[in-house]
Amino acid sequence: MSTPHPRTVLITGAASGIGAAIAEAFAREGDRLALADRDTERLRALAERLQGAAAVTLHPLDVADADQVERTVEEVVRAHGGVDVLVNSAGILTEVPLTEMDPGVWDETIAVDLRGVFLSCRYALPHMIGRGGGRIVNIASQLGQKGGEGLTHYSAAKAGVIGFTKALAREAAPHNVLVNAIAPGPVETPMVDGLSSDWKRAKRAELPLGRFGRPEEIAPTVLLLASDPGGNLYVGQTLGPNSGDVMV
Ligand SMILES: NC(=O)c1ccc[n+]([C@@H]2O[C@H](COP(=O)([O-])OP(=O)(O)OC[C@H]3O[C@@H](n4cnc5c(N)ncnc54)[C@H](O)[C@@H]3O)[C@@H](O)[C@H]2O)c1
Repeated sequence: MSTPHPRTVLITGAASGIGAAIAEAFAREGDRLALADRDTERLRALAERLQGAAAVTLHPLDVADADQVERTVEEVVRAHGGVDVLVNSAGILTEVPLTEMDPGVWDETIAVDLRGVFLSCRYALPHMIGRGGGRIVNIASQLGQKGGEGLTHYSAAKAGVIGFTKALAREAAPHNVLVNAIAPGPVETPMVDGLSSDWKRAKRAELPLGRFGRPEEIAPTVLLLASDPGGNLYVGQTLGPNSGDVMV
C-alpha cells in the first residue's frame, strides 16, 4: 500500500534520544507528527525545535497504561484524521544482576518495554486497517537478540518485542499494514548514559565498529521501513543498525 503524503506519524518515547531523532527525520519529510511521551517538559522542548516544520500535536502518555494509550490514539485520530505510521520508541533500562533484581523492577520493565508496544499496536491497528493500511515500527534492541549482562529483564522484553512483531506482521500484512522492528546496537542517548562505565567499556570493545551509534544514525532505518516503495517488502523483519554487535 502506498502511504499518503504528508503522513500522520505517531511516535511514543518521542521526547528523547532515538524517538526525538525519528520525530526530526519525519518532520524533515513534511509529515504530521503526534508526539507521545511521559516526559511532558522534554516533549514541549522538542515541539519548539520542530516549530514550523510540520503539524505537531503533543500527547503526555504512560505507554503501560491501557486507558491512556486508547485515549491518546483516539485524540490523534481526531486531530489528524488517522494514523499512517506508528513508531514505538518509549522504553526504560536499568542494570541489575538477576540475583539482586526486585520483582517490581522486572514488572516495570516488561510493562513499559513490552506491554507498551502491545498497547499502542492494539489501539492504533484497527484505525490503520480501517483506512486501508499503515506501517508500524517497533524499536527493539540487539540485546533482545544476544542478551546483556545485568539486563535479563530488558533483554527478555526486547526479545518479546521481536516475537510480537513477527506474529503481528502475519496478522496485519493481509490488511496492508506492515509491521517491522529495529534492533539498534548501543546508541549515545540518556538511556545509555545510565549504564555503568564498565559496561560501556566492555560493550565498546565487543563492537566491530568500535563505537556506539548516534540517534540520527538510527532514524533513517525507520524512514526506510515507512517508505514507499523502499519499505514495501519488509514484513516482520528486525533490522539491525548495531555497529556489528549482532550479525544475522
Ligand atoms: N540507546 C540505546 O543504546 C538503545 C539501543 C537499542 C534499543 N534502544 C531502544 O530505543 C528506544 C529509545 O531509547 P533511547 O535510547 O532513545 O532512550 P531515552 O531514554 O533517550 O528515550 C526514551 C524515551 O521514552 C520515554 N518513556 C519511558 N517510559 C515511558 C512510558 N512509560 N511512557 C511513555 N514514555 C516513556 C522517556 O521519557 C524518554 O523520552 C527504547 O525503546 C530503547 O529500549 C536504545
